[in-house]
Parts: sequence; C-alpha cells; structure tokens
Amino acid sequence: MNRPIGVFDSGVGGISILKELVKLMPNENYIYMGDSANAPYGSKAAEEVQKLATENVEKLISMDAKAVVIACNTATSVAAESLRKKHPEIPIIGVEPALKPAVLHKENSVIVVMGTPITLHEHKFHDLMSHYSDRAEIISLPCHNLAAMIEKGILEGNEMEAYLKELFKPLKNKKIDSVVLGCTHYPFIKKSILKVFGNVAIFDGGEGTARETKRRLEEDGTLSHSNKKGKITILNSLNSNEQIKFSQKLLYL
Ligand code: DGL
Repeated sequence: MNRPIGVFDSGVGGISILKELVKLMPNENYIYMGDSANAPYGSKAAEEVQKLATENVEKLISMDAKAVVIACNTATSVAAESLRKKHPEIPIIGVEPALKPAVLHKENSVIVVMGTPITLHEHKFHDLMSHYSDRAEIISLPCHNLAAMIEKGILEGNEMEAYLKELFKPLKNKKIDSVVLGCTHYPFIKKSILKVFGNVAIFDGGEGTARETKRRLEEDGTLSHSNKKGKITILNSLNSNEQIKFSQKLLYL
C-alpha cells in the first residue's frame, strides 16, 4: 500500500494531473517521470509514442510502482490499451479530454477541444466525440507546438497570446461556450486562454483522472492508509536541474 504511484508525461504537462492526485490523495507516495528529452510527443508518429510510453511504464514498474497514471492524452490515445494488456499486474489509468463535463455544463453548447494533433486524430477521440455529437457542437482544434512552448516555460506574455490569437482566428465569429483542454500541458496557460478567448468555461481531465485513480486503487486494495503526508519524487529524462525545478514550480503554482 505504501508503494508509490507512478505518473508520467512527455514533459512537465502531467504535473497538472499530479497536482490533482496529491490534492485527492495527499498520503500516497508519487514518482513523476517527465520525458522532456523526447517532448513533444504530440507531433511524433504513433508508433514512436507507443514505444516511449512503454519504456516509461516499465521504468516506473521497475521502481516498484503499484499503479501507473499516464498523465498524457497523447500517450493514452495510442498506448493505454496495449499497455493494460501487457501489464495486467497493476492498474494503468489514462487521461482523456473532459468532454463529458463540458456537455453536461450546458445543453446544446458549442465546445472547442484543444489537443495535440495525435490525440485529436486518433480513433479514441473520434469515438468520444461521436458519443456526444448529438448533444453539442464539438470543434476539434489541433494545437501544433503549443506543448513545446509550455515545455520551454512560455506560459503567458506576447508570444503565447500571439500564438493563441492566431489559433482562435478561424473561430472568431462563433459563440463558444466551453473549451476542453485535451492536453495536460494546457492547464498551465489557462490564464492566457481566458485572456484571448474571453468568457468561456474551461474543462480539463485532471480531477476526473485523480478520482478514477483512487477508485482503481480502492478496487485493487492498494490505497494507502497512511496518515502521513506522502513523498513526491520528480524525475526528468533531460537530467537537468532546471526542468525539475520548473516541474516543482508548476506543482506548487
Ligand atoms: N501533455 C501531453 C498530452 O496531454 C503531450 C504533449 C506533447 O508532448 O505533445 O497530450
């Protein structure tokens, strides 16, 4: 029960999920693996992401993880199913765009889903979208290079706003109700999105993923009963102190 929960992402984005996990289960121990050396995943071939995701999961299992959270929409879309088959010995939890809460938020609304090109292209997202397509107008908005900018520490300011303005230009004449952040890097630019997009409701998958992780641990009988605050270890494949410091800063933002 005191073994750590492994969490990984292509870089610092999954810290937005780790934050929710720690909020819900502060007494668990965590190992976070940021694969910044290979970021971004979102514009790679699906096979390459599959390979990287498998390496991350196996590294975390070798560090005694009792469960692994794929804190990356891109890796979840291409690798979650096969990873669960390959490693039935532990719960593997993925993250997907929070379309359901956005649909429930308002009837017949217009919802924009931001995500990496891979996530929005994969059948997993198309299945999700078709599930809700009679209840909302869903616009998929692939964001090339956005995760890479965030990875570099650009969260606000002129460069980020110029990028977002250009991205949202084709939607200028639409009345948008909600924006779904379908990439775990994007919650860190929520302020900039609101500044450029105006008054919209924003949804991300962090809280839902944390709740699902807790449910799976309970089911597995491995939820910690410790009454002490857990330990959080942050690792990064860049082996740079700077990226680890940046991750810590994002965790406590
Ligand atoms: N944070 C990841 C996601 O949720 C991947 C971003 C990237 O590496 O392109 O999709």
